[in-house]
Parts: sequence; C-alpha cells; structure tokens
Amino acid sequence: MPDEVRTLSWTVGAAAAYFERCGVDSPRATAEHLAARLLGVRRGDLAARGEEALRPKVLEAMRRGMRRVASGEPLQYVIGQWDFRDFTLRTDRRALVPRPETEQLAGLAVGSPRLRSLERPILVDWGTGSGCLALCLAREFPSARVLALDISEDALALARENASALGLSDRIAFLNVAETDVSEVLDGASVHAIVSNPPYIPSAQVDRLERKVLEHEPRVALDGGPDGMDVLRAVCEEATMLLAPEGEIYLELDAESGQARAMSAHLAELGFEEVRTHRDFTGAERFVSAMMPSGI
Ligand SMILES: C[S@@+](CC[C@H](N)C(=O)[O-])C[C@H]1O[C@@H](n2cnc3c(N)ncnc32)[C@H](O)[C@@H]1O
Repeated sequence: MPDEVRTLSWTVGAAAAYFERCGVDSPRATAEHLAARLLGVRRGDLAARGEEALRPKVLEAMRRGMRRVASGEPLQYVIGQWDFRDFTLRTDRRALVPRPETEQLAGLAVGSPRLRSLERPILVDWGTGSGCLALCLAREFPSARVLALDISEDALALARENASALGLSDRIAFLNVAETDVSEVLDGASVHAIVSNPPYIPSAQVDRLERKVLEHEPRVALDGGPDGMDVLRAVCEEATMLLAPEGEIYLELDAESGQARAMSAHLAELGFEEVRTHRDFTGAERFVSAMMPSGI
C-alpha cells in the first residue's frame, strides 16, 4: 500500500505491533499517544478518525518517533508533553518524567483540610523537576505563594516554561537552592507545607535501573546517596526551620528499601507529629506525611 493511503487505524496498529516486537511497555497505548500528538488530537478522539488517510509527512514523523521510542527514549520526551492530574506539562530530558505515583503525592497535599482552610498559604515544592508539584499546588490553592526549589538549572528552566504556559509564573518563585538561602527569600515568613519527591534511589541501585531511565533521565533526579535518603533527610531538617506550627510535610520515597519506616522514625525524632505512611496504587508504602507541633 503506498504511504499516502495508510489510514490512522492501520498506522496505529502497525506501530503497536512494532513496539510489541521491540519489547516496549504498553505498545498499543504508546502507539496511540504518539499518533495523537502528531495529529494534535486527544488520544480518545483517535478511534473516530480511524479511516483518515495520513499524510506522508505525518507518517514520516511517526516513523521517526517510533524509532526513538524503540531505542529506549521515554515516550514523554519523544512527544514532548505529558499529563499530570488535570493539566499538561512540557517534558524533555532536562527533568524527570512525572510519574503517576507523584500525582498521588500531590493528592495527599491538596486534600489536606488544614491547608484548605488557610487564606494565603506559602507552599514549597522541594526538587521541582518539571514543576509538576509546584504547578499543581498553585492551581489547587489559587491564593497560595509557591516556592519551587531545585539544584538543576535545566530543571528550573523547564519548570519556568511550564509555569509560563499555564499562566502561573506570577505566583511561583523558582529558586536554585544550591545558590539561594530559602529562609532569606521568605523574609521571616513561615511555610505551611513542604511537598517533595526528591532523588531517593540508593546510589548502588541507580546503575541497575532500566535503560530507558538510566540513559535518558537526569541522574541528579534519581541518586539519593548511599541509602537513598540524603536529600530526604536534608528536606526534613530544613522543614523543622521553615515550617510554621502545624505546618505539613509530604514526601515521596522508595517503597522497596524500607525508607517509609526509616523516614517516619527520622521525622518523629525531629519532633514532627501525626507521622503517617501512605500506600500508592500498587499497595506499596511510598509516601510519608507529618505535621509540626502546634506549640513550636
Ligand atoms: C525525583 S526528581 C522529581 C521531580 C519532580 N518533583 C517530579 O516529581 O517529577 C527530583 C528532583 O530533585 C532535584 N534535586 C536533587 N537534589 C536536590 C537537592 N539537594 N535540593 C533540591 N533539589 C534537588 C533534581 O534535580 C530533580 O529535579
């Protein structure tokens, strides 16, 4: 069949079969995401357009995208965007691909009745990457001031672009914590919540990650030091100085190396109250939350 009469449904089917042969995860969904992005339509709208003939240019772009995905590049980088909760982010190799578990972390914070009751909360996203958590907080708490922190200038640049695309630049300050003292920026104000999905993979395990992650996603977003908890501990310690009484902390961590228990104990030692672990959608203990005492 000549290229000009390839239909959308034929192309998606062929791409899915190719991905399956190459061992790509979720081959059909991956093919659909790629086609939807190239056609500028929603994935759910593809079925209704199945008999549409694809132009040679689109077919060529599809082939290029298929080769990149098959070579191990994350789909999210190939298509350059990904949904996080109810909004769409630009995604590229400057920052980690937002994971579905992190949508759950965001859900824990935005579901907090205490935070919801505040008039002008100050919220921090520590290790912002693409900006997914900071942007979610700014959207969910329209009167909040948000600080988005990272040590990667690349990640901060991407997060700023995402904030600008979503019209949130005026409520989020993007700061490089390696160069900026957060307490100075706050100028005496206290923070009402810190949300963080920091690098938490033990260094020795980073090289054993799947190729797709290791070769394409930034190492600084993954490597959490010898036991994976270097940045987690640093965030908790900073939190004791930055959080207001009853200020809250929400952490994502490695569900497989006992970090939930270790970080819960650490938070309790630091004087936090209401220390709780939370399970992700696979049932694994992936999140810890805690609150500063009211009297401090
Ligand atoms: C696991 S990624 C998470 C990114 C984003 N929050 C998300 O959930 O997709 C961790 C991020 O923390 C940043 N990071 C690493 N060490 C840090 C540190 N000491 N302080 C602040 N951010 C750090 C990395 O550059 C990376 O963007």
